[in-house]
Amino acid sequence: MSTNLSSSVIARRLAQLSPSATLAIDEKAKALAEAGEPVISFGAGQPDFPTPSHIVAAAVEACGNSANHGYSASGGLAVLREAVAIKTFRDSSLEIGPKQVLITNGAKHAIYNTFASLLNEGDQVLIPSPYWTTYPEAARLVGGVPVEVPTTQESGFKVSIDQLEACYSPATKLLVFVSPSNPTGVVYSGEEIREIGRWAGEKGIWVLSDEIYEHLIYGDNTHHSIAAVAPELNDRWVIVSGVSKSYAMTGWRLGWMISTEEVIGAATNMQSHTTSNVSNISQRAAIAALTGHQHAVGEMRAAFDTRRKLMLAILGDIPGITCVEPFGAFYTFPNVESFLGKQMGAQKVRPKSTMELADLLLEECKVAVVPGEAFAAPGFLRLSYALADEDLYEGMSRIKDLFLGAVD
Ligand SMILES: Cc1ncc(COP(=O)(O)O)c(C=O)c1O
Repeated sequence: MSTNLSSSVIARRLAQLSPSATLAIDEKAKALAEAGEPVISFGAGQPDFPTPSHIVAAAVEACGNSANHGYSASGGLAVLREAVAIKTFRDSSLEIGPKQVLITNGAKHAIYNTFASLLNEGDQVLIPSPYWTTYPEAARLVGGVPVEVPTTQESGFKVSIDQLEACYSPATKLLVFVSPSNPTGVVYSGEEIREIGRWAGEKGIWVLSDEIYEHLIYGDNTHHSIAAVAPELNDRWVIVSGVSKSYAMTGWRLGWMISTEEVIGAATNMQSHTTSNVSNISQRAAIAALTGHQHAVGEMRAAFDTRRKLMLAILGDIPGITCVEPFGAFYTFPNVESFLGKQMGAQKVRPKSTMELADLLLEECKVAVVPGEAFAAPGFLRLSYALADEDLYEGMSRIKDLFLGAVD
């Protein structure tokens, strides 16, 4: 959606990279807020809560211990890799050893490491859309070829085997699978995940399973890891996760990838030449997060669930908007296509795209949203409900007023 940098100086791989659209909206909103405008942002991809205090306390203690002041193993502290292995068995019923774990600078880094470890030039990567912007860009960075697998609102944005089959080719190396999803909030059932895993297993391709929202699941839905439910994959899987979303720790930059010892060995080797170890302080904090009490996770989930319902109720009061009920993460993904071309707001403009609509919402209502174009899904908006209840109510009221005032 954004202009590519082009220059004879910049290497081709970077010159073709699109800047993150979600960060661009965030920056615009921040600039307006700094100028004194009463901006409410539905753009955030992070919890609005502080990191739980027992985790912060562990980090403070770690700062005072000189053992944490120097380099440590590139792959991560042994005690943290062990904690990830125990947590994976606890939450996903998947038995793994610490040598199958690599600690990374956030889940985003784990995604890049996965592509770098598995993709050769020209290898195709199936990415169901709407998708989180980073997947295709990270795949391209290492010479991979992203292949979009479009899903529909009618099927709740769940990818079907037929849709996967239609996009499969002999050059396909890997499928990106994410549940709960950003931006749609879709959560697949254990049986649906197993079916997709079985299909990938038959094709002999790898699956990158992004499980960063594994603890943010609502209603009767539950988390299932494809690695646990689809033995047909025959160990051709990589799990990506981390503490960012579950423990309100996005700024600590702590994630992990889990796979075979061979893949983890290759990725660790690369990491030893690129970033070296993740900050020891963040690793100590993550140990506290994973091994300490889990009350805060449940409390944050309950707060998100209340806001999810409030947002859905307000969206449901706006004729012309349709929205698949999201059961995971902290986003709604309403379809606002019927408003495109209508006259809206005091400026009496007629937004032709959700990009233009997002601009109008920011300028006129001082409300930041992310347009669907950022996720290969024009006609939709992504609204994060990771913000305070009062802000959510006020921001949604502004959005509602704008839409209710739209005329042909
Ligand atoms: C689906 C998905 N995966 C991974 C990430 C990255 O997480 P981290 O902050 O740990 O890099 C995000 C962040 O928005 C995400 O939405």
